[in-house]
Amino acid sequence: MNVAIIGTKFMGKAHSNAWLNTPHFFDMGIRPVLKVVVGTDPAGTQALAENWGWQEWSTDWREVVARPDIDIVDIATPTYLHHDMAVAAAEHGKHIFLEKPFAVSLEQARAMLAAAEKAGVVTYVNHNYRRVPAVRLAKKLIDDGFVGRLFHWRSTYLQDWIVDPSFPLTWHLRRETAGYGAHGDLGSHSVDLARYLIGDVAAVTGMTANFITERPLPGAGAATFSAGSGESTESGPVTVDDASFFIAEFDNGVLGSFEVSRFAPGRKNYNYFEIYGSEGSIVFNGERMNELQVFSRNDPAYAQGFRTILATEAGQHDYIANWWPPGHLIGYEHEFHHGVVDFMRAIETGGTIEPNFYDGMKEMEVLDAAMASARNGQKVSL
Ligand SMILES: NC(=O)c1ccc[n+]([C@@H]2O[C@H](COP(=O)([O-])OP(=O)(O)OC[C@H]3O[C@@H](n4cnc5c(N)ncnc54)[C@H](O)[C@@H]3O)[C@@H](O)[C@H]2O)c1
Repeated sequence: MNVAIIGTKFMGKAHSNAWLNTPHFFDMGIRPVLKVVVGTDPAGTQALAENWGWQEWSTDWREVVARPDIDIVDIATPTYLHHDMAVAAAEHGKHIFLEKPFAVSLEQARAMLAAAEKAGVVTYVNHNYRRVPAVRLAKKLIDDGFVGRLFHWRSTYLQDWIVDPSFPLTWHLRRETAGYGAHGDLGSHSVDLARYLIGDVAAVTGMTANFITERPLPGAGAATFSAGSGESTESGPVTVDDASFFIAEFDNGVLGSFEVSRFAPGRKNYNYFEIYGSEGSIVFNGERMNELQVFSRNDPAYAQGFRTILATEAGQHDYIANWWPPGHLIGYEHEFHHGVVDFMRAIETGGTIEPNFYDGMKEMEVLDAAMASARNGQKVSL
């Protein structure tokens, strides 16, 4: 099946690697063909095409998405473009592989879900952390009763890449291009993990902070938006949150907390969660992604304590047989391979993959409710 990817930078590269190399590791009834890459910068787009073996390149996503020879559209662009690109792809009957956060608003999210359902296409939202082997093992442990009755979810997702006040006002820092700040960028991953491991959220209470409210405009070529009238040409206002906290009640009675920030020096990609239940506990840290910390109340009392499991053993999750022997670690890019293989198998079997556009819409419901709570100071029920 012919793939068109839109976006050539961080995610453009990560996805190109996955489309190219996944069939070398996994048996796939339908193999992806790297057909065309679309970007805004002709030289960079052509360079990505040549480096990763995309057969063609273009700067016109609307023309590419309408092409009858394209079967799959991969959207790896800033968040404000997800809606128009996904709706157009669905209307042309393409299967859709889409980056997170799902959309800049719940209204957009609902329209994207409706367009995909009407078209009957396979959709995937790339919350790649669901497909980390240790996270798969956490899910298996919960399903097998290791944690028992679930009591608590605690997540923090921390990074530090915008602590410097001279970091420019890129698309990530504007409401109209990003939707939310850390709340959407990092919080969407945490909400997706919580929905996967714990269940649906029933009510939230939130708060947010802005630490740097004005930033220099990006240099030529870096901007993905224009400064509005009345704005300085040198700097502009940050219009998204820098950090957010919210507490949550889940449908199943679990009490949870979500904490995200891009102002946590030393935390590079600290996607961390703790789960506590009647029989035991699970702790995951994305910076040590091959490991899971567990505690079991069913261990003999004299031997109780947190222990570390290396998630590279057969039987721990479905993907391990396709990689290396136990103890030979895998990394960030493998999450994308796992997304690609599950997505292609969903197309092949006429099935589905999760998270899909329904999950993207549910994720936006939680994020929107938490932001509404932060604004009005009240608990918001979903
Ligand atoms: N899953 C993850 O771990 C992860 C990590 C980082 C980013 N993301 C998400 O991936 C998406 C892209 O992020 P990024 O960091 O790669 O962004 P980026 O700013 O580095 O790159 C954006 C790309 O989109 C292209 N683009 C912008 N406007 C376009 C248009 N009109 N037509 C065609 N191409 C256009 C640009 O040319 C560029 O190649 C975002 O939604 C982001 O939240 C996900």
